[in-house]
Amino acid sequence: NNGAAEFLPDRLDLNALRDAAAGCEGCDLYRNATRTVFGEGPKQARFMLVGEQPGDQEDRQGHPFVGPAGRVLDRGLQEAGIERDDVYLTNAVKHFSFTPRGKRRIHQKPTAAEIDACHPWLDAELAVVKPEVVVVLGATAARSLLGRSFRVTQHRGEPVPLGEAVAVATIHPSAVLRAPDRDEAYAGFLADLQAAARIA
Ligand code: URA
Ligand code: SF4
Repeated sequence: NNGAAEFLPDRLDLNALRDAAAGCEGCDLYRNATRTVFGEGPKQARFMLVGEQPGDQEDRQGHPFVGPAGRVLDRGLQEAGIERDDVYLTNAVKHFSFTPRGKRRIHQKPTAAEIDACHPWLDAELAVVKPEVVVVLGATAARSLLGRSFRVTQHRGEPVPLGEAVAVATIHPSAVLRAPDRDEAYAGFLADLQAAARIA
């Protein structure tokens, strides 16, 4: 596999991208996942939110952030005053990566090679949507968009230039759910979303 680049359509619009991504074989993740879960939201959105990869529910339903992490994200967006129709939601990696354990599918972090292989889709989404603000959710999205030396824990909530846009990194909403002190983790997550909201 040589990455997603050779699967990109000639015409860059969201429908053409979604159709082409459905057939992507740019890395091995397409083999075991149910489907490509492409980004969703209006082309005019001022905010682009970038997660890691679809989870179990997203893989089944075919939409980003429809599981437990999505509920944390929805609450955060609402409390930060970011309107849903101002948001394009996507992931750094478009197929669910997991290891089977009995009947369950255990989420696996995408590798650096998988993140790089999938980057052309994210780049194309950025080129079409041209968001003002990119909210980078966790280390995988940060690796894809801000490079391997960027540390979310050190620079979360800070505006950083990303092409024509401004990026703000925060922890992944799944990390809020796993945190020993969920309320504290959520408060930090919300503060970062509020920092992003102030930029637009
Ligand atoms: N976690 C992500 O990073 N993305 C999703 O779409 C769902 C869970
Ligand atoms: Fe293509 Fe990305 Fe899926 Fe890999 S994860 S097959 S690069 S869409």
